[in-house]
Amino acid sequence: KNHFSEVPYLKQKKILITAGPTREKIDPVRFFTNRSTGKMGYALAEAASLAGADVTLVSGPTNLPTPANVKMFRVESAEEMYQHVMDHFKYCDVVIKSAAVADYRPKHVYNEKMKKQTGDLILELERTTDILKTLGEQKEHQLLVGFAAETNNIAEYAKKKLVSKNLDIVVANNVTEAGAGFGTDTNIVTLYKRDGSQLELPLMSKLDAAKAILREVKHLMDEEKA
Ligand code: CTP
Ligand code: CA
Repeated sequence: KNHFSEVPYLKQKKILITAGPTREKIDPVRFFTNRSTGKMGYALAEAASLAGADVTLVSGPTNLPTPANVKMFRVESAEEMYQHVMDHFKYCDVVIKSAAVADYRPKHVYNEKMKKQTGDLILELERTTDILKTLGEQKEHQLLVGFAAETNNIAEYAKKKLVSKNLDIVVANNVTEAGAGFGTDTNIVTLYKRDGSQLELPLMSKLDAAKAILREVKHLMDEEKA
């Protein structure tokens, strides 16, 4: 039934995967984060490892166990994730950025716990580095796979990300759809590829979705060799 796990078709391929949310500190007891649980990224790491790849996982805070035979780096902030990803990028064949990276962080991090005051509080936020966009600008031989988490205009936004970040594949999902998105064990995704073609996948487990994504990655690698 599952010939996939017996055929190590990504053998000797170095694959870097990011997963989970990031945490952006406000003060020693508070942070901004998002609803990502890391399940899609960990499923990708597991599937890639089953397919024989040399897998590095850079993960934000999750409650998930490290998949077998995966090199794990745990990080908290977008900045830490950026540093680890850049450290590994040169040596990678494929990068899959499933992490839900914060777009903004507090401009000022307080060293002591903030005390409440009367009236409203305004916190100033600044942009984080767009890790994937940076990879797109620096890519040489690497294949780049990004995610697009959307609630509306999915195809339009996903295709924009494919172009603006110089990606080979963007995996789009509607995070508000039942059976898809944050925290579920299943997903419903559409892959948009740089040649303009697309692959719409039905509801399936995140592990099966991961395998489908990796199959497309393998196709692109084979095309490049040919
Ligand atoms: N991403 C990243 N670094 C960031 C923000 C996003 O590497 N600072 C990556 C994500 O890991 C994902 C892709 O970019 O693979 C798209 O993330 P998404 O949040 O859907 O898109 P953004 O480009 O951040 O745009 P927006 O949130 O405005 O839709
Ligand atoms: Ca974003």
